[in-house]
Amino acid sequence: MHLSPTCCLILLLLLNFVDAGRVLRKIKERVRMLQLHKAKQHVLMRTFSGQQPAEHMSEGKIHQPLDHFDRQAIKTFPQRFFVNEAYWQRPHGPVFLFIGGEGPISQFDVLAGHHVDMAEEHGALLLALEHRFYGDSINPDGLETKNLADLSSQQALADLVTFHQYISQHFSLTHRNTWISFGGSYAGALSAWFRGKFPHLLYGAVASSAPVKAKLDFSTYNKIVGLSLMNEAVGGSDKCVADVWEAFAAVEAALMGGNASKVAEDFGCCQIPKILEDQTELMQSLADIVMGAVQYNEEGAVMSINELCDIMTNKSEAYEEEMEAYDRFIKLVQIYRSTGEEPCLDASHEQTVKDLMDTSLQSARTAGRQWIYQTCTEFGFYQTCEDASCPFSRMLTLQAQTWLCPMLFGISQHSLPGRIASTNKFYGADHPHTHRVLYVNGGVDPWQELSVINNKTGEGDEDQAIFIQDTAHCADMMTRGVADRCSLKKARREIEKHVTKWLKSAAWENMKKLMV
Ligand SMILES: *[C@@H]1O[C@H](CO)[C@@H](O)[C@H](O)[C@H]1NC(C)=O
Ligand SMILES: *[C@@H]1O[C@H](CO)[C@@H](O)[C@H](O)[C@H]1NC(C)=O
Ligand SMILES: *[C@@H]1O[C@H](CO)[C@@H](O)[C@H](O)[C@H]1NC(C)=O
Repeated sequence: MHLSPTCCLILLLLLNFVDAGRVLRKIKERVRMLQLHKAKQHVLMRTFSGQQPAEHMSEGKIHQPLDHFDRQAIKTFPQRFFVNEAYWQRPHGPVFLFIGGEGPISQFDVLAGHHVDMAEEHGALLLALEHRFYGDSINPDGLETKNLADLSSQQALADLVTFHQYISQHFSLTHRNTWISFGGSYAGALSAWFRGKFPHLLYGAVASSAPVKAKLDFSTYNKIVGLSLMNEAVGGSDKCVADVWEAFAAVEAALMGGNASKVAEDFGCCQIPKILEDQTELMQSLADIVMGAVQYNEEGAVMSINELCDIMTNKSEAYEEEMEAYDRFIKLVQIYRSTGEEPCLDASHEQTVKDLMDTSLQSARTAGRQWIYQTCTEFGFYQTCEDASCPFSRMLTLQAQTWLCPMLFGISQHSLPGRIASTNKFYGADHPHTHRVLYVNGGVDPWQELSVINNKTGEGDEDQAIFIQDTAHCADMMTRGVADRCSLKKARREIEKHVTKWLKSAAWENMKKLMV
């Protein structure tokens, strides 16, 4: 038993991103930091009002086989998990499992969030399991390519099975403890697949913003980004997307015209992007800022679509009409950098590659290398600008992204379509073989394209879809907030209704079993 009590709130270590890296990953990290901060406030507030939600929380490690599918293999790695028993109604209360994805988990994954709100109402035991090879759950051999062979979603699902056994034993759980899983984004897909592949272990699953369909050229991502910039319900407009398009065209023209040093100065680049690879890197960094604004719209960590469009189309009357899209974009990037205290904007391909080749444990925390490995071996998900509707630069090709697979891991680009096809064959793409899984998506989340958007027909109400018209990636997973959009509040009530219904029907099934 490796449970150690962590009674007090540990100060969070700010993850230290190595100098350059992809801007979207930095934005993702900003989002995570803000969410942790909010969760911490939430927990502190509850502590002040006399509750002690953190008092019943503990952290543990389970030793997992590195390779679940080779009976001869004996190597293990330590996998981190958190438990919160504050709300659990022993001995038959349900179990709510929060599944970790492509990054570290934290104690707040069992202390705050919509699933925690629901656990409190249903007297559930809260668990969170970190994904193998992310956060603290790293293969001790390191992140060399040969050691990444055991990093896959299928191994991750097998980890969940072992964890289920381990917890059941430790807490003496029986079939009367109903398990429900939760997860968002890639972990949302794991939540759905866990239920799909091991239906006897879980009664139901909530899958938020879950890209269950693997796709090589995910150019539809940027199509949705463009549509969201036009969406008036969230502050977008036709003019906004046109101005973004114009700004990118102007930057591209300046680079092609040999004005790289001026561009570098204008946008505060870390280096002058002289060669084509660096210019592509710069275009990616610039696109990432807009992609991040859409994907995390109104989640507070970066500017919202409304703010972005306000800068690009400045509605104020005093504004000089002549100011070019290029100059407005400079201002936008300045604001982005100043809010995140980023001294300069990444524009070095060499630096990006260098960071991704770093196999040290320090770099492992940033997760870039591991996630790119999973995109090369299982999912693709390359957010390219190959589609004509993309508002950015045509320089962002599929080739520019898949090139990393042979470069970093010796995985040939030709093998990618086959790998992605097997992933879809194994899990069922956007028609996964699941029952009693609730798929939740947001209308301004570019990932919705790879999820289950519509209710399945002809299967009773086993699988259901909730579509929140005007929210972004994983918005439903946060704890309830007074300022939330009505649609979001309504969606959360809808999720609660499903979870309540599942718990009731599970209890009824258990009772029937007892009566026979
Ligand atoms: C390059 O910069 C110079 C000086 O600012 C400017 O006159 C010229 O138009 C620029 N060329 C392009 C292609 O943007
Ligand atoms: C819009 O333009 C006005 C006048 O130049 C300026 O004061 C304001 O800061 C601008 N707003 C944004 C969001 O750039
Ligand atoms: C799925 O069906 C339920 C109940 O019939 C409905 O409330 C919900 O809006 C539907 N979801 C979608 C995305 O159409």
